Amino acid sequence: MNLSIIGSGYVGTTIAACFAELGHDVVNVDIDEDIVASLNDGQAPIHEPGLAELVERHAGDRLRATTDYDEILDTDATFLALPTPSNDDGSIDLGAMKAAATSLGETLARKDGQHLVVTKSTVVPTTTVDAIGPRIEEASGKRVGEGFDIAMNPEFLREGTAVDDFLSPDKIVLGAQTDRAYETLDEIFAPLVDRAGNPPVVKTGISEAEMIKYANNAFLASKISLANDLANICKEFGVDSDEVLETIGLDSRIGSSFLGAGLGWGGSCFPKDTAAIIAAARGRGYEPRLLQAAVDVNDGQPERMLDLLRERIDLDGTRVAVLGLAFKPGTDDIRKSRATLLISSLLDAGADVVGYDPVATENMRERFPDIDYADSAADALANADAALVATDWDEFAALDDEFDAMRSPIVIDGRRIVTRREGIDYESLV
Ligand code: UDX
Repeated sequence: MNLSIIGSGYVGTTIAACFAELGHDVVNVDIDEDIVASLNDGQAPIHEPGLAELVERHAGDRLRATTDYDEILDTDATFLALPTPSNDDGSIDLGAMKAAATSLGETLARKDGQHLVVTKSTVVPTTTVDAIGPRIEEASGKRVGEGFDIAMNPEFLREGTAVDDFLSPDKIVLGAQTDRAYETLDEIFAPLVDRAGNPPVVKTGISEAEMIKYANNAFLASKISLANDLANICKEFGVDSDEVLETIGLDSRIGSSFLGAGLGWGGSCFPKDTAAIIAAARGRGYEPRLLQAAVDVNDGQPERMLDLLRERIDLDGTRVAVLGLAFKPGTDDIRKSRATLLISSLLDAGADVVGYDPVATENMRERFPDIDYADSAADALANADAALVATDWDEFAALDDEFDAMRSPIVIDGRRIVTRREGIDYESLV
């Protein structure tokens, strides 16, 4: 197939390179000339394991980038993979999606024959039908279902394993309105489906596909929050929450993944998507109490961690090492990372903060230019009065003598990663 992807951010670039890997001819359209040049040079504009190899392999051949929307005319289908940033009330800003839909419509006005437009970005139910389709209709002079079809195909890519997640998905969700759209989507995704029909391909409505993405993330985020709620209760009774959560995970109805209790969830998806679907529900007059509780539990974990520290030491003037700045191990992404919340609260309380992360320091420096940063966990701990462990990087499990260089060896562990040892005042958040 000939495919066009509008947007070459995290999702757009990943799916463009992966579609090329599946054998399709792909053109990635973006307004940013630097990103376009970098892709055409065979360089991935973002860091994601396996992505650099795919871009290098296919650039100049099955994968190219352009700022020219006219190149879409030679393609069969266009995926919209544009950013949907959060507004203050949690709802998503559709500005970029709407602008791209209009530009795409103006381009499709000049196309002979059918075209399929697929929403890839996470958008609240009815967005594709009510906001994207009509804009393309207006700009193209063509009707949905006649000159072009619309569809929705959510992504379930985790940062750090996005390429693998794309190439070996648990499910493929295709939301469409016409047989023709399903057929085109089937052809696009056929290389991912084996003879036994795995992974399952779910054919559903467009708004259902939009909601499936939110429901998926809301469920996982709530599962972690429920694990945290239970772990907080365990702590009050001196019960080992790891034993409890690992054991309930053995029940096949519960399952063991996403029961990791600790500081809670961050990143670009769970916080944004839970906020967006809560705001969308409220917009329709429904108060989603359970989801709001999941958010509240999540927001409370960093404060509980600081309370454990306050019980031991006055934060004013205290030097605190924050170990782990990324929102999870394996990434340099600090968006909504728990460490950002901890650092803000520590600074408000007058503490002197030193941060350490194996890869996320430069991103955090842009956010907090005035705190200290160490080149190693050992350097961060040296002369610190306390340490807060915010990300479960493997290297923190090996810390040992490094704690001896602390002024006072207080260690509060938000991820149950540090190995307890004699001589440190250790407490786990859960
Ligand atoms: C998530 C979804 O998994 C993915 O399907 C979706 O498309 C995008 O959002 P991502 O944000 O990359 O992916 O990371 P994920 O591995 O899901 O972790 C999210 C957050 O939850 C991290 O902050 C992580 O530390 C936290 N987490 C995860 C826990 O606190 N406990 C767990 O058991 C698992």
